[in-house]
Amino acid sequence: MTFVVTDNCVLCKYTDCVEVCPVDCFYEGPNFLVINPDECIDCALCEPECPANAIFSEDEIPAGQEEYLAINEELSQVWTNITEKKDPMPDYEKWDGVSGKIQYLER
Ligand code: SF4
Ligand code: F3S
Repeated sequence: MTFVVTDNCVLCKYTDCVEVCPVDCFYEGPNFLVINPDECIDCALCEPECPANAIFSEDEIPAGQEEYLAINEELSQVWTNITEKKDPMPDYEKWDGVSGKIQYLER
């Protein structure tokens, strides 16, 4: 089991989640974060920390967002590890809550 970062993180990227992860398994891309499923210990600490409610257990991923499981797995292999909170994306307020942001996901 793993936790998964989903659609509402795209273009928001608050990064509160990275501060609580005991195994530092978050990885950062240009406008999204992912969790490495092989490193995640399923502790659930990050889920309530996300202001965008973008983190779910893999068996509770919202309908229509299932592809984020594979996206987290794939991109955590190539993106850079992040362990300290930083400023969110410049227009995070505008994008928080907008659906279907996968079309803007930069790899
Ligand atoms: Fe890290 Fe725990 Fe969240 Fe997994 S569930 S990403 S181990 S904080
Ligand atoms: Fe993204 Fe939420 Fe973390 S918006 S960067 S999963 S705190």
